[in-house]
Amino acid sequence: MGKITNDELKKHNSKESCWVKIHGKVYDVTEFLPEHPGGQNIILKYSGKDATEEFDPIHPPDTLDKYLAPKFHLGEFDESSVSAADRQAEADAAAEAAANVSPEELERLENLKAIPRLEECYNLFDFEHIASKVMKNAAWAYYSSGADDEITLRENHAAFHRVWFRPRILIDVAKIDLSTSMFGTKVQMPFYVTATALGKLGHPEGEVNLTKASHTNGVIQMIPTLASCSFDEIVDAAQPGQTQWFQLYVNSDREVTRKIVCHAADRGVKVLCITVDAPQLGRREKDMRSKYVPPATDDDDTGATVQKGAEVDHSQGSARAISTFIDPALSWKDIPWFQKVIKDHGKPMKLVLKGVQRVEDVLLAIKYGLDGVILSNHGGRQLEFARPAIEVLAETMEVLDRNNLRNRIEVYIDGGIRRGTDIIKALCLGAKGVGIGRPFLYAMSCYGVDGVNHAMNLIRDELEMNMRLIGANKIEDLDRSMVDVRSVDQHSNVPSDHLTSIVYEGLNPPPFRRSKL
Ligand code: HEM
Ligand SMILES: Cc1cc2nc3c(=O)[nH]c(=O)nc-3n(C[C@H](O)[C@H](O)[C@H](O)COP(=O)(O)O)c2cc1C
Repeated sequence: MGKITNDELKKHNSKESCWVKIHGKVYDVTEFLPEHPGGQNIILKYSGKDATEEFDPIHPPDTLDKYLAPKFHLGEFDESSVSAADRQAEADAAAEAAANVSPEELERLENLKAIPRLEECYNLFDFEHIASKVMKNAAWAYYSSGADDEITLRENHAAFHRVWFRPRILIDVAKIDLSTSMFGTKVQMPFYVTATALGKLGHPEGEVNLTKASHTNGVIQMIPTLASCSFDEIVDAAQPGQTQWFQLYVNSDREVTRKIVCHAADRGVKVLCITVDAPQLGRREKDMRSKYVPPATDDDDTGATVQKGAEVDHSQGSARAISTFIDPALSWKDIPWFQKVIKDHGKPMKLVLKGVQRVEDVLLAIKYGLDGVILSNHGGRQLEFARPAIEVLAETMEVLDRNNLRNRIEVYIDGGIRRGTDIIKALCLGAKGVGIGRPFLYAMSCYGVDGVNHAMNLIRDELEMNMRLIGANKIEDLDRSMVDVRSVDQHSNVPSDHLTSIVYEGLNPPPFRRSKL
């Protein structure tokens, strides 16, 4: 095929035939549309057009080569085919967009200019608050959202309020050592940076910020499959000797997965964490709302689509994500396959399940010879009413201890960890360490790598002080006797169901009969 002209590109502007131009090349993404993990609407918005600006900031450079079959790489775009009128139309559209900045966006830009000094952030919640005021709407919605009514999202942190301390006194706590080990790697603090997709939504350098801060603070970074930087960029940004783990979404095409796993091992990844709580991506309505694209013309905007039912687009919602990127058929039967792939490749990696949610599955993981489990509900983004990890941890460790199994597997938790005390509670209950997600994304989005370093310093300070206050010099001193967990599984005080509250019209008792005169 010769170079593709602008007129040709413009013709393929629908669901039936969707071409996009990215970095001067044209791609046919028609068949890929339903597969797109970000939903098809967002690509359709750019069908027949240049999508580089939208694509670039969040997708790794190798995305199209990796996931779009060569037959859909149609060829070079013919820049000389763009007429003066087309160029003018593009310039006019850009000028119109610039002139139509929404009041919310103007306020955000003002907030950015007046952002608090970094040293004014005293805790991880401060970053979240600032992020909500300065991040672009789509990015904030993607990072902050949770499934359905966001009950699990909020319960994740709230559950820590049901665990209280039983401190020891008169212990010499002049020196505090926060270091510990995770799968044999010595770390300076008992947390790791968990895997969160799309780092470049928050900051142009994306996940690399987290790599740098992890090194500075002596903690481990878990690299996500769906990072915005390429896997190699993130590994290249690590310093010699820095340990990284890799979070894996298992592709339906096991050959794709095998290659990813072997490449991770070749690049020195020490732990492979298979995500098992996302056979389909959860429905995150805040995120969906931020991505909603209104009908193209005013004529369409008559409410008629409401009547059409079947034609309403579901690509952002529940139907969007049964895709080859995350195989819903993944099962326990696949575990020996992973173990064999790692063994045959000859570069040892620990195998861990991320997203385990009940003790029965921890016992199965032990039976299958897994090295670790991460008790997690994906930060409340998947199954609504999944229990918070701290509660599952209490349940799990009791059973493991009763059956003398504690040394058979390393147990981690993530979700809602915002305070040093949250971490200490988890360690008292037997977690080897904890993962922290959103707080580092928010710190990075607001202040780049300095923000992440500051966030980690705050956690260090909180940990050190609270270790002293409960009478523990080192991580091994923490044990179950130092927490009161009697009410950890009492769900009497769950976060309020906000949507129900605002739509609910209360019942009224019968009115009194009064004269209308
Ligand atoms: C062809 C042109 C493409 C365009 C214009 C495009 C654009 C976008 C946009 C705007 C988002 C949403 C970001 C947000 O949540 O605000 C997104 C998400 C995403 N895209 Fe693409 N994309 C394209 C192709 C691809 C390809 C080929 C892949 C290959 C895997 C891909 C993978 C993803 C992933 C993993 C997400 C994140 C989904 C999530 O977790 O919600 N995209 N894309
Ligand atoms: C924006 C965002 C993206 C995420 N992306 C992934 C992912 O790609 N794979 C995965 O296994 N978990 C993902 N997670 C879940 C995190 O690894 C972790 O379980 C969760 O964020 C912990 O909760 P926290 O954010 O309250 O600390 C994501 C979480 C967030 C907030």
